[in-house]
Amino acid sequence: MSSASRPPSPAAHGSHATGAPDIRLPLPLTSFIGREREIATVRGLLEQTRLLTLTGAGGSGKSRLALEVVRQVASEFPHGVGWVELAALSNPDLVPQQVAAALGLREEGGRSRIEALLEWLRDRSLLLVLDNCEHLVDACATLADTLLRGCPGLKVLATSREALAVAGERAWLVPPLSLPAAEPASARERAESEAVQLFVERAQAVLPTFELTDANAAAVAEICRRLDGIPLALELAAARVKVLSPEQIRDRLGDAFRLLTSGGRTALPRHRTLRAAIDWSYDLLEEPKQLLLQRLSVFSGGFTIEAAEAVCAGGPIESWEVLDLLAQLVDRSLVVMRLPRSAPCRMNCFTCPGVSAGSKEKSSPASPLTRGAATEVPFSKLDSPLHPTHPRPRLAQAQWFRGSRRA
Ligand SMILES: Nc1ncnc2c1ncn2[C@@H]1O[C@H](COP(=O)(O)OP(=O)(O)OP(=O)(O)O)[C@@H](O)[C@H]1O
Ligand SMILES: [Mg+2]
Repeated sequence: MSSASRPPSPAAHGSHATGAPDIRLPLPLTSFIGREREIATVRGLLEQTRLLTLTGAGGSGKSRLALEVVRQVASEFPHGVGWVELAALSNPDLVPQQVAAALGLREEGGRSRIEALLEWLRDRSLLLVLDNCEHLVDACATLADTLLRGCPGLKVLATSREALAVAGERAWLVPPLSLPAAEPASARERAESEAVQLFVERAQAVLPTFELTDANAAAVAEICRRLDGIPLALELAAARVKVLSPEQIRDRLGDAFRLLTSGGRTALPRHRTLRAAIDWSYDLLEEPKQLLLQRLSVFSGGFTIEAAEAVCAGGPIESWEVLDLLAQLVDRSLVVMRLPRSAPCRMNCFTCPGVSAGSKEKSSPASPLTRGAATEVPFSKLDSPLHPTHPRPRLAQAQWFRGSRRA
């Protein structure tokens, strides 16, 4: 048999040889909270589609949710599950190699990795998980498309801050953890929300005596709401109970990007601080989108498209481009549409203040907020509150600059 027609041999772990499904998944070291409804939804979607991508902002829980779903459905795939971790891979050319390694295929001369994968997967019923794709999105999209076309028994579950944009893909936005209600409630009632449960569990991991009480529950609930139920942000905030009370944490959340910096040494580098989680996405953006994100940081608590067009156009960003750039930031999970989707549509950018916390914006000569003449549009008419701690709105409330739009 020539090497071109010989099936690639499995690596030494042997389970392929016995015909038993090979299921090797990452082993999480922390507890899993809630998500019953989301798990049921994702399982349902996986039955209907061959390529499902869980999307959402950094730290929103895509990978963790995928892992819980896969644990539950793994036994339904006769040839098991291949879990491919891509976070640490930077070279897109190595994606096929990473997949082959995760499936236990040995390198064979004479043909490409993709050919080897196609041949090996062609007659198998297997779930391939591509975890953390956003920085390799083109390579992952190409590979998924090729493998799905050539291997009828294959399904792909991807997690990515941006959808793969491949024909037949179903992209599903992972929602935040459920939040406690704003009205007064007891500690017990508040503990029913997933966000509070995650905060309490992670707080107890660093301070075993920590308890949710009627005295601190309101502060914990507010922390959860202000952090939008994002699991990574909640974990970083909870780690602070070692030195701060929940009330102190809540009071310091105005500067969340300085407060949320205490991720564990064993966490992914981009999960050690909230800032790092956002920089990971920011660094993948082309320049006009980076600039728009910086400018959106003047808003606090959401903005309308009209307000974004009025405030953020200027210099290299024409006013007509704002909508298109905003849509691309939504695609990358950096800006989210707020529900309900009533008129006028509102958007939110939880991450924007962190983006502007660097010096990039201030040094941008093209910013309409740092050059030009006074304008006729006062911020107070924009129907979108401005960030109270941002230095520019204080300046801009008196005088709105947009000379660069005229330039
Ligand atoms: N339901 C949950 N229960 C417990 N911990 C969770 C849950 N969801 C997420 N986490 C924790 O929150 C952190 C971020 O989650 P995860 O890594 O899944 O986010 P992600 O959306 O994949 O982020 P990224 O975009 O950076 O890949 C991790 O430490 C994870 O263990
Ligand atoms: Mg992930």
